[in-house]
Amino acid sequence: MPVPPSLINGQAERRRTFAIISHPDAGKTTLTEKFLLYSGAVNAAGSVKARSGGRSARSDWMTMEQERGISIASTVLQFGYRDHVVNLLDTPGHRDFSEDTYRVLAAADAAVMVLDTAKGIEPQTLKLFEVCRARNMPVLTLLNKFDRPGLDPLELLDQIEDQIDLRPTPITWPVGIPGDFRGVIDRRSGDFIRFTRTARGSTAAPEELVPGDRAAAEEGGSWETAIEEVALLDEVGATHDDATFRSGKTSPLFVGSALTNFGVRHLLDGVIDLAPAPEERLTAEGDLRDIDAPFSGFVFKVQANMDKSHRDRVAFVRVNSGHFERGMTVTHGPSGKPFSTKYAASVFGDERETIDDAYPGDIVGLVNASGLQIGDTLYVDGCVEFPPIPRFEPEVFSIARPKDVSRFKQFRRGLSQLEQEGVVQVLRDEQSGDVSPVLAAVGVMQFEVFAHRLENEFGAIVELSPTAYTVARRTDAATAERLKNIGAVRVMSSDDGSLFALFESIYRLQRLQNENPDWCLERIVPS
Ligand code: G4P
Repeated sequence: MPVPPSLINGQAERRRTFAIISHPDAGKTTLTEKFLLYSGAVNAAGSVKARSGGRSARSDWMTMEQERGISIASTVLQFGYRDHVVNLLDTPGHRDFSEDTYRVLAAADAAVMVLDTAKGIEPQTLKLFEVCRARNMPVLTLLNKFDRPGLDPLELLDQIEDQIDLRPTPITWPVGIPGDFRGVIDRRSGDFIRFTRTARGSTAAPEELVPGDRAAAEEGGSWETAIEEVALLDEVGATHDDATFRSGKTSPLFVGSALTNFGVRHLLDGVIDLAPAPEERLTAEGDLRDIDAPFSGFVFKVQANMDKSHRDRVAFVRVNSGHFERGMTVTHGPSGKPFSTKYAASVFGDERETIDDAYPGDIVGLVNASGLQIGDTLYVDGCVEFPPIPRFEPEVFSIARPKDVSRFKQFRRGLSQLEQEGVVQVLRDEQSGDVSPVLAAVGVMQFEVFAHRLENEFGAIVELSPTAYTVARRTDAATAERLKNIGAVRVMSSDDGSLFALFESIYRLQRLQNENPDWCLERIVPS
């Protein structure tokens, strides 16, 4: 039964699909739990961690993850809040980094940037933010851990603006200094909301609406300072503006403490009230695909062998338009072949639930999705293609060789599969072939995952040796020809035929660029 466009639009309007970006330890996991607590999806905070029996163990389906207590697989949490459907995409929170983290952002409509009040912008936050910036993605900011001593909030606003050129527009403003956090002024209403701690923050923090005169009497100097600071924010125009927020230039900012739940509700309300619902999407042809057009979506992540007993392959699809109904036959864009969606599920770690319906903004896990690759479009009716998910600039390089040459066949099969999944980028030239390709990644964790999976799933042990290369640039055939005669530079190609020049140092690269301004040596930045 076709679903009327009004229903699809109505369902899309209710969706908020976002990801949390942060540096490890800023509080992403804690905040995720508290969102679930405030949505009523869990009764007491701690259940997310407890469910799988350990810290950050939510998606620990892989032995390697379990051994190291990290979470590599990004998945999605869906929960209801205020008659809305929230899709919270999980960006892996480990110390190291992988391209998966970036790719997840391609499926999000907004991001929540969590900063530790004591630390401000940290390196990983910056990297992730750059991806949001490249996509003009709206970003909300949380100054977290305000219950602990930290930097002055006005100083933090300056830091954000100076370091990442994003103008914070506080929605809430703290009463009390970091470490003595009493509550927030909601700048939209002028109300003072006082919070009370609960034991270990396991239940929602009681909130009390305190009128100004009482606040002045009860909070004294803290209240006066807060009022002065709010006046200053008004004066400099640091006030929310929908248009600049949506184009990624300003960021509504909230102050809180995920641990004690202070300010969590305001932030979640902010996601609902301010973050955009799914909107029409740009296609590869430059048209817009309407929300209520027939079903279409794209694969932003592929994960093989999540379930050891089944050795399956799950493709995560973000719905861009229309109504998805389990069992429908869709067209796989690149091959033009029909694809059955009988095994559609929501996947969170090793937990799966069948999904019968999905709407724009939702994420569908297609199980047994052999043949689907990252970036592939799926659709019904008229053909549509979404732009490819960009590759990211590799920052680490390593040469891979099979340890045991008699297992070369397995090595090669694994190499090809893991390359297709985007676990690492594989670069080859005449000299390397498949015997000793260069692996490129944004973080060394990707190499570890590669080696682990190659051994466990394909039975080939890989020997990884360091290379002298530290930087790569996209190049073209003409420049490649010139680079051939230059020492300490290597030109290699990726599976899609793109050419990359590898350099040992950025200075060497810059010198070559200065000497040969007409050469094609482009940064591989996300777009
Ligand atoms: P991450 O996912 O971003 O890596 O951070 P996570 O939520 O795991 O938080 C990292 C540490 O910071 C945890 O402490 C957590 O309890 C603490 N934390 C998170 N939010 C707040 C906050 O608002 N205030 C304070 N004071 N602490 C916060 P831990 O000791 O490393 O782990 P745990 O034993 O508490 O789980």
